[in-house]
Amino acid sequence: MSAVAIAPAVMDELADIVGPAHVLSDPEITAGYAIDWTRRFAGSTPLVVRPGDTAETAAVMGVLAAAHVAVVPQGGNTGLVGGSVPLAGEAVLSMRRLAACEPVDELASQVTLGAGVTLTDAQAHVAASGLSVGVDLAARESATVGGMVATNAGGINVLRYGAMRAQVVGIEAVLANGTVVSHLAGLEKDNTGYDLGSLLAGSEGTLGIITRVRLRLHPTQPERATALLAFRTAADAVSAAAALRRSVASLHALEAVFDGAMALVSEHLGVTPPVGTLGDGAAWLVAEAAARTDPSDELGAAVAELDDLLVDAAVALDPGSRQRLWAFRENVTEAISAAGIPHKLDVTLPAARLAEFTDGVADVIRAVDRDARPLLFGHLGDGNVHVNVLGPGGSEPAQEVDGAVLHYVAELGGSISAEHGIGTAKLSQLHLNRSEAELAAFGAIKRALDPAGLLNPNVLLP
Ligand code: FAD
Ligand code: MLT
Ligand code: ZN
Repeated sequence: MSAVAIAPAVMDELADIVGPAHVLSDPEITAGYAIDWTRRFAGSTPLVVRPGDTAETAAVMGVLAAAHVAVVPQGGNTGLVGGSVPLAGEAVLSMRRLAACEPVDELASQVTLGAGVTLTDAQAHVAASGLSVGVDLAARESATVGGMVATNAGGINVLRYGAMRAQVVGIEAVLANGTVVSHLAGLEKDNTGYDLGSLLAGSEGTLGIITRVRLRLHPTQPERATALLAFRTAADAVSAAAALRRSVASLHALEAVFDGAMALVSEHLGVTPPVGTLGDGAAWLVAEAAARTDPSDELGAAVAELDDLLVDAAVALDPGSRQRLWAFRENVTEAISAAGIPHKLDVTLPAARLAEFTDGVADVIRAVDRDARPLLFGHLGDGNVHVNVLGPGGSEPAQEVDGAVLHYVAELGGSISAEHGIGTAKLSQLHLNRSEAELAAFGAIKRALDPAGLLNPNVLLP
């Protein structure tokens, strides 16, 4: 949909609040805010506003609400479900300038960060205190703390620390009418009513604009051992993942790359995997242990116990060698994006149905689009599989692929969104996981906080 014109008086009011340099309307400049990372979702916008702090965000929302202008909040624009871009001519509220890092509270092991702080900057800020952010993901250089809370981002360490919601001990947000709600004390025990941080986590910009977040931090585990493990079949990798979860107390990440995705990322990187053979339905795990003292014996002993399941293993201890193993997992998304515009289906399966799914999903996809190319990878330790699907020559696959995979997931008792959210991409499938009563409750919450429906109106709620 083309961008809706905004009255000059409204533009002037906004410029008075944030400064003219932060009210953008030149289509050449705003175009970059209107297309998502995958290039699958693109729209246009009449206006990008870049507030610098909470007070400016509140004042901007007051003006936009009075003018009945719908808004898409945007952080690093690395979201993968089309939720961060204006698809129906909405204004974009870019939160990247809220980039203040407050001093680390070492007594509490917590920190308060502006919503626009990138994950890389957050990690660097807390590192000197011997502390770490509990969520890590490959988009760390661009993804913002606000966006990560809004999507309840997962990433590679969920099996140890939980997803983003589990890190939030305090939140500040601006509601649709410009009201500021702030609860940032970070008290570990605080049963004084509804938990707005939990509610806003995973709300995908539909309930409020997150301006500051107080995060729980974790002691850094500096000693690391990383293994790349090769298996003959996806089912063997799934069984091995379950065994490693049971036996490695210091397990920090347990990731998977299945055959098609491994072939693609290897070609993209120009290197073959050091273990295993491409092209025969094989699968790989990246297992990382992290502790205060060297965890390599613990990981090594657990790997040795995998016996017949395992074809071969490469273990790395120093940062450079570990990074070379991680490259086969961390660069999959980039490799797929270089090959075309995928449909990204991010799902969780119950442990008991995981192998059945990884074995069966390619047939489900090819039954509706025989030319589609399924590429599987993900956070296997959490039961989270990323099913990416490309069409011939890197084109998009048939739209029916999405429904077929998500129905299959629901039939097996899984979740149609593990960590990326619903966005616009999965809006029409939310009923597969949520009952009418739940959706009615979601609608009631939305109407209470955003009665005019101005915040991300085309996201999450059908
Ligand atoms: P955006 O993309 O800008 O926005 C995402 C959503 O949050 C939108 O709905 C938007 O409206 C809303 N939003 C943004 N900021 C705010 C705010 N301040 N207040 C209210 N709403 C807001 N995700 C994972 O979970 N795990 C991964 O392992 C992972 N790896 C990735 C790897 C790559 C290479 C890429 C490109 C993406 C990856 N992602 C992953 C997806 C993405 O990085 C996350 O969803 C991230 O949390 C988005 O943060 P962002 O700042 O870019 O948010
Ligand atoms: C990942 O785990 O690499 C991300 O969630 C990105 C993706 O799904 O492509
Ligand atoms: Zn992921």
